Amino acid sequence: MKIGIVVGTRPEIIKMAPVIRQCQERDIPYFIIHSNQHYSEEMDSIFFKELHLPQPHYNLGVGSGLHSNQTGNILIKMEPILLEEKPDVVLVQGDTNTVLAGALAASKLGIKVGHIEAGLRSYDRTMPEETNRIMTDHISDYLFAVGPNQHKILSKEGISADKIFTVGNTVSDSLFQHLEISAEKSTILQELGVTDKSYFLVTAHRASNVDIPSNLKELLALFDQLHAKYSQTIVWPIHPRTQAKLKEFNIEVPSYLKLLPPIGYLDFIQLQKHARLILTDSGGIQEEACLLGVPCITLRENTERPESIEVGANVLVGRNGDKAVAAAEKWLAADKFSWENPFGDGHVAETILDIITGTETAKDETIIA
Ligand code: UD1
Ligand code: UDP
Repeated sequence: MKIGIVVGTRPEIIKMAPVIRQCQERDIPYFIIHSNQHYSEEMDSIFFKELHLPQPHYNLGVGSGLHSNQTGNILIKMEPILLEEKPDVVLVQGDTNTVLAGALAASKLGIKVGHIEAGLRSYDRTMPEETNRIMTDHISDYLFAVGPNQHKILSKEGISADKIFTVGNTVSDSLFQHLEISAEKSTILQELGVTDKSYFLVTAHRASNVDIPSNLKELLALFDQLHAKYSQTIVWPIHPRTQAKLKEFNIEVPSYLKLLPPIGYLDFIQLQKHARLILTDSGGIQEEACLLGVPCITLRENTERPESIEVGANVLVGRNGDKAVAAAEKWLAADKFSWENPFGDGHVAETILDIITGTETAKDETIIA
């Protein structure tokens, strides 16, 4: 058994880390292909260092580009590697262009594909990620669904039940493995001069929010409205895409927004844990906020992660400032939050490896926390 592991962006590195660790612990032959869709130190190598991951065996160096160009380059560059390495299975995680290209390259060579985080749907085809998810699911042999909702979605789309395994999300493994370490090592709160529950945390990088000037301005107006009402510091580790767009559109950011470059995982966990509220359009951060017991306001009209809304941890506001204030008002009235955890028990990678290696026979019977 030999496993090919594909990563390309920040969230893939973080969520694939527990799978890589499992391969190491079990002495399973594996190799890592990094597309380098993300390449800046703070979006890429910082996570390899912090998560103690081995350097990728192959780095495709594709970088940024238009969708087809990026996807096509990964396909072309992966093929000879897969022909040489001959893995039994290729694992991809999530919904990026790297995921689609990695899955397609393997599938075309008749290599089995395992899709971690299968079955997520926003039903919004304007999102590039939705196309990536759907296509990847339909060419995968192992579909690692997060929960029963995703299992239902995949079944409805005609995917045979014997390919679907409900396992939870490896986001829980990574988070639980690093919570304590981050508390010990991170000094980010002191560095920023903020204290527990004294600030809101923001992230935004969806093309729909940041690539259109009027939408990006609407987002800033939403922050203005929140700040006018609550006078809270808003900490914003800014994604390079958004940073580039602010510059391109010549948009000034008010000083109550503490803009930071993207920060490492250990610091980011602490920033999330101690935030009064999180405002985000990120997929992974909706999950982590829920796992950390921090209320989340999602800056989108839809989400492929409705579970956090169902358990009462998340609310969708789009770019509507009135809705954001209403949501904040509700959250700020409470002191403590508790809700069910729909995202996994922190042992998801173990289950995935059990299934791939045939040491676990039950299909879709794994109970998630
Ligand atoms: C990508 C994924 C998105 C995922 C996100 C995680 C797709 C279609 N999008 O979006 O699903 O949520 O990663 O963060 O796969 N840039 C840098 N340095 C980097 C990477 C990007 O400066 O290391 C800048 C470049 O200006 C680039 C822009 O960010 O053009 C966008 O990068 P790209 O990888 O195309 O998309 P993301 O917005 O990062
Ligand atoms: N993250 C981080 N530093 C940051 C912002 C995010 O380490 O400055 C982590 C966060 O903890 C989560 C992941 O990056 O695990 C989410 O990535 P992102 O929002 O870029 O992508 P998405 O989840 O939306 O695909």
